[in-house]
Amino acid sequence: VSVTKNMTLKSNIRDYEVTFQDNIDFLNDLTCLPNVVFVVDQNVWSLHGSSTLKSITNPIILPISEEGKSLASVEFLYDQVLTLAAKKNMTIVSIGGGITQDITGFMASTLYRGIKWVFLPTTLLAQADSCIGAKTSLNYKKYKNLLGSFYPPHAVHIYTGFLSTLKELDYFSGLGEMVKLALIGGQAASEATISRLEQVIQKQPDMVLDEIQAALSIKKSYIEDDEFDSGRRNILNYGHCFGHAIEFAVNYSIPHGQAVVIGMILANQVATRRGVLAASTAQDILTRLLLPVLKIDLKQQVFDVDLIIEGMKQDKKRVGEGFPLIMLQNNFAMVKVLDVSESEVRDVFLSLGELVNDQGQ
Ligand SMILES: NC(=O)c1ccc[n+]([C@@H]2O[C@H](COP(=O)([O-])OP(=O)(O)OC[C@H]3O[C@@H](n4cnc5c(N)ncnc54)[C@H](O)[C@@H]3O)[C@@H](O)[C@H]2O)c1
Ligand SMILES: [Zn+2]
Repeated sequence: VSVTKNMTLKSNIRDYEVTFQDNIDFLNDLTCLPNVVFVVDQNVWSLHGSSTLKSITNPIILPISEEGKSLASVEFLYDQVLTLAAKKNMTIVSIGGGITQDITGFMASTLYRGIKWVFLPTTLLAQADSCIGAKTSLNYKKYKNLLGSFYPPHAVHIYTGFLSTLKELDYFSGLGEMVKLALIGGQAASEATISRLEQVIQKQPDMVLDEIQAALSIKKSYIEDDEFDSGRRNILNYGHCFGHAIEFAVNYSIPHGQAVVIGMILANQVATRRGVLAASTAQDILTRLLLPVLKIDLKQQVFDVDLIIEGMKQDKKRVGEGFPLIMLQNNFAMVKVLDVSESEVRDVFLSLGELVNDQGQ
C-alpha cells in the first residue's frame, strides 16, 4: 500500500483530504484525469522533471520569486490554462512550495469562479504548514499577502521524497514553522518535537513524516473552528508579528520560517519582560527548540529597527495604536495582546544580540 495515513480537513467551503504517499505512483491517477493541467515550480521541474515527474507531459512551468506572487503571474496562468484545457471537468494540479500554492490557488479560486485544484507540496514549509488552511495570498505593490481568497484544494498529496533536493535554508525555513506549531501545541507536543528534532534536522524519513503529521494535526485543530481567522486561528501568527516586519526590513532576504523563529525569540522576550513567561522557560525553549532550527547567524545580522517599526505599522492585523503580538505564556498558554509599544519593540531588538551571544550561537 502506498497511502500511510490520511487526514480529512473540515472546511466551510468543502471538506478535503490530505494523503501521505510513500512513492510517486499516485501521480499516474492524476495524469489520467480529463482536462488536467499541471503547474510546476520551475526549480522542482528542473530537479524532478526527468525523474519523479517524468509521467507529466507539457506542464506549465511557473517562475518562482516572492515578487512573482502577483496578479501578473495569475494572468500568465489564466492565459496558459485557457489555451491548454476546456472548461468542462478541468483540474489544475500544482506542484511546488508555498509560492506555487498561493499563485495557483488564487488562480483556481477565481477562474470560472472556482475550478478543481489538487496540490502537491514540495517544500517542508508547504508540507507541514501551508498546504492546509485554505488561504491563498498574493502580494500587491509593497504589501505582502494583501490580496487573497479562502479556497482549499480538492486534495493534497504529500510525498516527502521531494524534500531531498531542497536547499538547506529552505529546509530550515520549514523547520521554523514546525517548531512554531509544536510550541502552540503545548508542552507535550513541544517535548515530542524536541525528542525528534535532531533526526528531523538530519532528514531521517520516518521522523520527518512523524513531525509533518504532528505539525498538521496541531494546525488542523486551530483552523477547523475558525477557518476565516476571526479568533482562535490568530494564534497561528505566533512569531509572525515580528517575523513579517523582519522580512520587510531585510527585503525578504531571510526565508519566511527563519524570520518566524527570530520573531518567536523576540515575542518570548516581550513575554518575559512583562512577567507572563518565566525567564527559565524562555531560556529552555530558546536552547532546545529555537536555536537548533535557526540557520541565520544573528551576530552577523543587523536589523534596522526603524524599518522594523515601519513594517509593524503595516501589519494587516493591527487595529489600534499599539502593535498586536501573539505571546507564549507560562504553561504554554497562548495569548494575543494589542498593546505592544514601540519602546518594547526597540528594547527586545537591542537585547537580541546579547541573547544569542550568551548562547555562543
Ligand atoms: N497560503 C498560506 O496559507 C501560506 C502559509 C504560509 C506561507 N505561505 C507563503 O509561502 C511562501 C513560502 O513558501 P515556501 O517556503 O514553500 O517557499 P517557496 O515556494 O518559495 O519555495 C522555496 C524555494 O524552494 C524551491 N523548491 C520548491 N520545492 C523544491 C524541492 N522539492 N527541491 C528543491 N527546491 C524546491 C522553490 O523553487 C523556491 O526557490 C511565502 O510566499 C508565504 O507567504 C502561504
Ligand atoms: Zn508562516
